[in-house]
Amino acid sequence: MISLIDVKKTYTKNQMSTDVLKGINLTINQGDIVCIMGVSGSGKSTLLNIISGLLPLTSGEYYYKDKKLNTNNYNEMEQFRHNNIGIILQEFALIEDFSVYENIALPLRYQKNSSKFINNRTSTMIKKLGLEGKENYYPDELSGGQQQRVAIARALTKEPELIIADEPTGCLDEHNTHILLDIFKELNQQGITIIIATHDKVLSSICNKIFYLKNGLIKEVRGNQTLS
Ligand SMILES: Nc1ncnc2c1ncn2[C@@H]1O[C@H](COP(=O)(O)OP(=O)(O)OP(=O)(O)O)[C@@H](O)[C@H]1O
Ligand SMILES: [Mg+2]
Repeated sequence: MISLIDVKKTYTKNQMSTDVLKGINLTINQGDIVCIMGVSGSGKSTLLNIISGLLPLTSGEYYYKDKKLNTNNYNEMEQFRHNNIGIILQEFALIEDFSVYENIALPLRYQKNSSKFINNRTSTMIKKLGLEGKENYYPDELSGGQQQRVAIARALTKEPELIIADEPTGCLDEHNTHILLDIFKELNQQGITIIIATHDKVLSSICNKIFYLKNGLIKEVRGNQTLS
């Protein structure tokens, strides 16, 4: 489903270059539930943002379902995201002027669904993530964990074929972590592909593949080897 070939990413800031990804070769199959681990600053978010089509490659190739993506084409990548991917970003990226309800409904509005469909689906996700009663709140009136759950609900409403989640349990307590785990397991059983960056061992325990990022390169590891 996803194939990255010799992908490199260099950030340039104040004439200083940082080579964050130095040649990533990665294959993810449909139905995989994949965990990406690595220390802070190793490039996990960078890699997920590349797979999400939010960042252009410095070099290398990105194939999605055997089609080569032009990651420099903003419009093409935006369409690609809307059609295929539910993204849970590390910093949530909620729209501050939109209520909880409107944030969650937004991806369905992009897809031009009927209002009845949007209402049903949005209400279902609000219930699933325990956000009842908060529908009319704004992001700055929510706790960190509640904001994270809004970001999760928003990523899942359109039932994407690929879910990309960057530290999705970073602000969640044990109870909500287990709710998210169950949601991911259920979606994966329906054949949805999931890619998660996490330090959370509980979350990585549900993954069928674990990758470790270090010094700009990636390797597949088994659960216990992740810190070697
Ligand atoms: N827009 C940017 N401009 C310049 N450097 C950047 C930019 N975004 C990230 N970096 C650098 O790239 C490196 C990797 O960052 P990234 O956010 O991908 O790490 P991470 O593994 O997700 O870390 P964490 O676990 O803390 O979330 C860091 O050294 C960071 O400073
Ligand atoms: Mg990160």
